[in-house]
Amino acid sequence: LSCHTEMTEKYFSILVCKFFFKHQKKSLHHQLSPEERHLLNSIAWPETPHVPVPVSLNTTSDPAHSTFTILPVRAGGQWHVGDELEALIQIGDFQGHPKQYGGDLVIARLHDPTLSAGVAGRVVDHLNGSYTAVFPLLWEGRAQVEVTLVHSSEAITVLHRVDREHPARQFFLSLFQSGSVSETVVCNFCLPPTQPLCNYTDLHTGEPWFCYKPKKLSCDTRINHYKGGCNYNLKAKEVTLFQSGVNMKVIIQASGPSNVTVLSTVKPEPAGYYYQGAWQALGGTTVRQFSDSSAISQCLTGKVVNLYGDSTMRQWFEYLNSVLPDLKEFNLRSDRRTGPFMAVDMARSILVKYRFHSPPIVTWSKFPTNELRYVANELDGMVGGPNTVVVFSIWAHFGTFPVEVYMRRLLSIRRAVLRLLDRAPETLVVIRTGNLRTMTFMFAMTNSDWYSLQRDKVLRAVFKGLNVRLVDAWDMVLAHHLPHEIHPRPPIIKNMIDVLLSYICPKNKA
Ligand SMILES: *[C@@H]1O[C@H](CO)[C@@H](O)[C@H](O)[C@H]1NC(C)=O
Ligand SMILES: *[C@@H]1O[C@H](CO)[C@@H](O)[C@H](O)[C@H]1NC(C)=O
Ligand SMILES: *[C@@H]1O[C@H](CO)[C@@H](O)[C@H](O)[C@H]1NC(C)=O
Ligand SMILES: *[C@@H]1O[C@H](CO)[C@@H](O)[C@H](O)[C@H]1NC(C)=O
Repeated sequence: LSCHTEMTEKYFSILVCKFFFKHQKKSLHHQLSPEERHLLNSIAWPETPHVPVPVSLNTTSDPAHSTFTILPVRAGGQWHVGDELEALIQIGDFQGHPKQYGGDLVIARLHDPTLSAGVAGRVVDHLNGSYTAVFPLLWEGRAQVEVTLVHSSEAITVLHRVDREHPARQFFLSLFQSGSVSETVVCNFCLPPTQPLCNYTDLHTGEPWFCYKPKKLSCDTRINHYKGGCNYNLKAKEVTLFQSGVNMKVIIQASGPSNVTVLSTVKPEPAGYYYQGAWQALGGTTVRQFSDSSAISQCLTGKVVNLYGDSTMRQWFEYLNSVLPDLKEFNLRSDRRTGPFMAVDMARSILVKYRFHSPPIVTWSKFPTNELRYVANELDGMVGGPNTVVVFSIWAHFGTFPVEVYMRRLLSIRRAVLRLLDRAPETLVVIRTGNLRTMTFMFAMTNSDWYSLQRDKVLRAVFKGLNVRLVDAWDMVLAHHLPHEIHPRPPIIKNMIDVLLSYICPKNKA
């Protein structure tokens, strides 16, 4: 998912989409349904008042000048399991002045390394430079608060502007070929119509996709799809807002104690928490531990598991494929990064399949166009039923496009999920949410946690109320002691798979 700038120069001239987008944005806005407008409103972020491009970092948020304090216990003077713990966070700027406005992206977790316990906190923005982190106390013993400034509000203003003004900052290429003639052209959701276009808009879902028409070849000679490059359009001063270890993903120190001792006595606020390294879900589902391969195989017997999405979904395929000795991958001779993949346990009638979602697919791998499938179309091509499991994870490749593009994709998938659940109500549909990642400047531009968070809210809103289950990757990565990685490490994947398997094989049916 990295965004190298090779080739950018070459294609930049034709990517000056600005005038097109101005026009497009207006018409796009007109086209928004009330539902889409509602989704957009639901992710409104506090605006940073009168902050033009900062001339220096002086007045911007500085984690080193920010602190948090655990608020004293309200009654009795002791913390008990079942209570809530609150920490007040005050953000300061580089000159040490308290900030007067909100909009920073602050995350918090409560954890204890010796118990391998951890839970995500809920952070409330008071819009005056202070924030409150609220944690449920779920285990007995020690618990330590950890607060992190992911992005300053000024950085988020930049991310927001880049998102609005440069929706095509990530661009793609396709090779067209017929006989000995070949040409490579630029492709995207939209292109300035300075040259003739090939229109690959999906007739069934309406998902738009365009390439410039090759000069000598016809539109039906397109054979692959891959990442072209990107251009962040950032001013030099703005870049300083995205410095790892300085003002991006930096831990904020406590002004007093950062830990408490919790006495024995659960408010289901977060999706769950870790205890002794194992994810305990809150809100109904009992997560079973599938610690040996035979338990997993037994659970999956007779099932067809369809995994759709990005590389974070591919990790699940790889995990199942590696832990189940009898699940044999059938060699489809596809690219290891893009798939599709298929693995079979003949004796137990288990079939596990993985397929990437459709463009945007930000990969240097040359993705054959014939293998591009929209998830909605795949679902429409499926009978469904009690032995069908559908899982999807669609988020990481959408960070560099306007959120409307993501909304449109999810709404078309939701319609297909509704049709599937109508004709086969016993089909299990599971959604893996997005997660936090390591932040570097490059990743902040393409896949900032803020972009992911905003899309995560849209995802949850779109599928709210449907008979689908979530694997809350956001909380499962945030609450864990392992670093935030776009591809969470195996102990986290194992916990995610345990949640998935607990949906497939709930305790009472086991
Ligand atoms: C930022 O603060 C430093 C030290 O307080 C000061 O020397 C510098 O002039 C300030 N920069 C701007 C642009 O205000
Ligand atoms: C910020 O707002 C919160 C909530 O309204 C309030 O408790 C706090 O005192 C305010 N802080 C400052 C510095 O005004
Ligand atoms: C592309 O094709 C779709 C579907 O046929 C059509 O609705 C849309 O207007 C076309 N767009 C352009 C720019 O030609
Ligand atoms: C708890 O916090 C206090 C004060 O910050 C610190 O001195 C102590 O070492 C912490 N305890 C543990 C076990 O981390």
